[in-house]
Amino acid sequence: MKVKPVLVQTDAPKIEFIDLVAQRRRLGDRIDAAIRRVVEHGRFILGPEVAELERALERFSGAAHVLTCSNGTDALMLCLRARGIGAGDAVLMPSFTFAATAEVVCHAGATPIFVDVLPESFNMDPASLASGVQSARQLGLKPAAVIVVDLFGQPADYAALAPVIEAHKLWLIADAAQSFGASFRGTKVGRLGAVTATSFYPAKPLGCYGDGGALFTEDAEFAALLASLRLHGTGSDKYDHARVGMNARLDTIQAAVLLEKLRIFADELEARQRIATRYNELLEGAVQVPRLIPGATSVWAQYTIVTQQRDHVAAYLKDAGIPTAIHYPKPLHRQTAYLAYPTAGNGLPVSDRLAAEVLSLPMHPYLDEAAQDRIAGAVRDALGR
Ligand SMILES: Cc1ncc(COP(=O)(O)O)c(C=O)c1O
Repeated sequence: MKVKPVLVQTDAPKIEFIDLVAQRRRLGDRIDAAIRRVVEHGRFILGPEVAELERALERFSGAAHVLTCSNGTDALMLCLRARGIGAGDAVLMPSFTFAATAEVVCHAGATPIFVDVLPESFNMDPASLASGVQSARQLGLKPAAVIVVDLFGQPADYAALAPVIEAHKLWLIADAAQSFGASFRGTKVGRLGAVTATSFYPAKPLGCYGDGGALFTEDAEFAALLASLRLHGTGSDKYDHARVGMNARLDTIQAAVLLEKLRIFADELEARQRIATRYNELLEGAVQVPRLIPGATSVWAQYTIVTQQRDHVAAYLKDAGIPTAIHYPKPLHRQTAYLAYPTAGNGLPVSDRLAAEVLSLPMHPYLDEAAQDRIAGAVRDALGR
């Protein structure tokens, strides 16, 4: 039987899952002025703001080379293209991630191999990665690369994964679409993989007003290759394309938006951490609350709880006017497009369970305590705890 929420307050302010309007109240005028400057100078493609943003992202992350691009998916695609990954190669990745991580591998002609995640961090399980490498070999594929995803904003345990990655000489792509701004053991995201890809999709902690992405690497030669591929494979002669490339540039207008948002990003990250800590205090004991692994900071792209009564809690919150989201209701190895691709070991039980039990609650830097109390109160009421 459906329990009616006791918390419906028709006069209470609306709760947004991610409140971009609140951010605009703080920053809107500066962003509008920045967009206007681009409109007036008219250098819409690779204008000065693009290079300015790339230098600012290098300073922020500590990475030697940053290259912006069209979105997080193309960022991953550029990595695979630059490395020449293709037919006969296996690319290992978690099943509990967004489809973009896998689709690029298929487009490159390589085979994604899905591995399991850990139940507390939701990030890649080193033992399952090792087993995925064996699966690749049994299938006659060359284990060429691993895409490690920093799910919900927290870096994976790169230290625990390193022995497997090194033993099998896997090329490490960090899919930091959700984690730009976080760090692991004092190293900022952008320097945790051989190459790091991120997304500036509007709902990301650092999001633009459309699509956007960036790549981070320490390797100057590799950065030059990425820059060429981003621009149709151009070489030193403008009319002699050196390689088959892509059109994967970031628009100047988006760079201008990001430059303004980057100025307040550190402050927003502090707010996200404060809100996550408070959620944990309010919800501890009622559900599995998200935990940071030792040495990690998170940008809290999502605040995700785990409960066996997930569907009931989601319905109860909906009735109470509180939006929630499920990331992800189906792990990739269960999705129609990816059913035919191999998995590590004998199935991925943690990914399967999490898909049935995770629930993301409203999370953004402008979530006030009254709204948070309503959300946490509703979760507890739904569970009778
Ligand atoms: C883990 C992960 N990888 C890749 C992407 C792709 O980013 P984009 O939407 O910018 O193409 C996303 C975006 O949601 C993501 O969450």
